[in-house]
Amino acid sequence: MKILVTGGLGFIGSHTVVELQNQGFDVLVIDDLSNTNISVLDGIYGITGKKPTFVELDLKNQAGVASFFQTHNDLKGVIHFAASRAVGESVEKPLHYYHNNVGSLIYLLEAMERHQINNLIFSSSCTVYGQADKMPISESSPFKQAQSPYGKTKQIGEHILMDTSRVTKLNAIALRYFNPIGAHDSALIGELPIEIPLNLIPFITQTAAGLQEELLIFGGDYPTNDGTAVRDYIHVVDLARAHTKALSRLLQNEQKSSFEVFNIGTGKGSSVLEVVKCFERIVGKTLNYRIVDRRQGDFIEAYADTTLANTELGWYPMYSLDQALQSAWKWQLSLHTN
Ligand code: UFG
Repeated sequence: MKILVTGGLGFIGSHTVVELQNQGFDVLVIDDLSNTNISVLDGIYGITGKKPTFVELDLKNQAGVASFFQTHNDLKGVIHFAASRAVGESVEKPLHYYHNNVGSLIYLLEAMERHQINNLIFSSSCTVYGQADKMPISESSPFKQAQSPYGKTKQIGEHILMDTSRVTKLNAIALRYFNPIGAHDSALIGELPIEIPLNLIPFITQTAAGLQEELLIFGGDYPTNDGTAVRDYIHVVDLARAHTKALSRLLQNEQKSSFEVFNIGTGKGSSVLEVVKCFERIVGKTLNYRIVDRRQGDFIEAYADTTLANTELGWYPMYSLDQALQSAWKWQLSLHTN
């Protein structure tokens, strides 16, 4: 069964390709390599013994997308990761984000409709909730004002799917990720920050590895237990497994409506300081850190109510924060030795 994974060489995409191949799917990957490296294909091969079919393509190239689907019109489903995802950059380059994240989705949906490929999984984010009023956040929490153009593109993406699935044969599932971290146990694939990392975990591992001088903790005066912001950190392999569960729901026509959304997190909130302490304990190193002012646009806290994913998808996370941090560290070390 052929499945297209757009952005399949990215962080979450590559881990999902591994899960799909392990389950026997025939995987095609489209990636424009803008935020990853072709060597990820070797990592996937190292784990699964199989390379997915790879096509280098920018989904903003409408003719290219149309021609790809002309050639591959026997796909059973599409998992759409390809998108830009840096919150700060999206503030600087809004048009790039709308073009890349919204425009490309439209080209993809048009091509899918043309060839009657009706199953789609969409990478969404807990960012669609804005600062939610109630924790844990359930799927029925309303969309608040998004904090960035990036967040708006995810909200718009979901609206596009909802509207389209009403009037076409499209069946879509949006997975709203909380904070994806960690790496495959093999340390053959992981997160590849191309520049200075903006996210917490790669910054922590780079600091421990001596690549960054110190970790700046953004904000020590939040109304949380220790004053630092709280997030729900989910192991990327658990996240990847959520995609295969969602895919089988689509392929077996188990949906309750043509557009569904699921939170994918652990359900547990951890503060930045808790993550730092946990990492120090696992690695047996003291991390050089300093608490500074809050980062603009950050929420106080966000953690998921995952009841819906548990009951409807039969999905439960398997990895703990300890294991996720351990895998992130192993991956960081592998980057030096390769
Ligand atoms: N943080 C630091 N120092 C750093 C980096 C981060 O203290 O060097 C803090 C942040 O202020 C925040 C927490 O660590 O409190 C987590 O920050 P990340 O940047 O790792 O993650 P975010 O929660 O800001 O953003 C992530 C994804 C987005 C997504 C968002 C949804 O990166 O793509 O979750 O909430 F939209």
